Amino acid sequence: MPTARNRIHVMHGVNLDQIGRRDPVHYGGTTLLQLEQAIDGYADALGLDARFFQTNHEGEFVEELHRLSDLADGVVVNAGAWSHYSRAIGDALQFAGIPAVEVHISDVMKREPWRHVSVLAEHCVGTVAGKGVEGYRDALELLCRELAQ
Ligand code: DQA
Repeated sequence: MPTARNRIHVMHGVNLDQIGRRDPVHYGGTTLLQLEQAIDGYADALGLDARFFQTNHEGEFVEELHRLSDLADGVVVNAGAWSHYSRAIGDALQFAGIPAVEVHISDVMKREPWRHVSVLAEHCVGTVAGKGVEGYRDALELLCRELAQ
């Protein structure tokens, strides 16, 4: 009997620990803890087991990605500003070798031009942006479909 592929790592990068206090126009009033509680609920409803990780240190984010192939079947990544320029995180995401969905809480395409570029997108099966907290549900649904294939 095949084992369930339902372990999802949800990774938050630089400055995401400050949502709830940071730029409410773009990120709303939800704290990271509240966001993770909401994601946990979405995951439960989909039969997924979500685990969370946040750091403000790029090397730690990379090292967590190095561990991912043992830890998870899929990953949701919001790498914050790193998404727009960190080829190191892009390489590590590719190395992880599991389905990834990129999420942005804000609508990055309607913000400054430097936010329009993602160096992670090419390593992801999809990107969800501008949907706030609920974007994470879309991301989990996408991963669910991907893992069922
Ligand atoms: C973000 C968008 C990024 O441009 C920004 O640097 C962030 C958060 C988002 O969730 O909307 O830190 O990834």
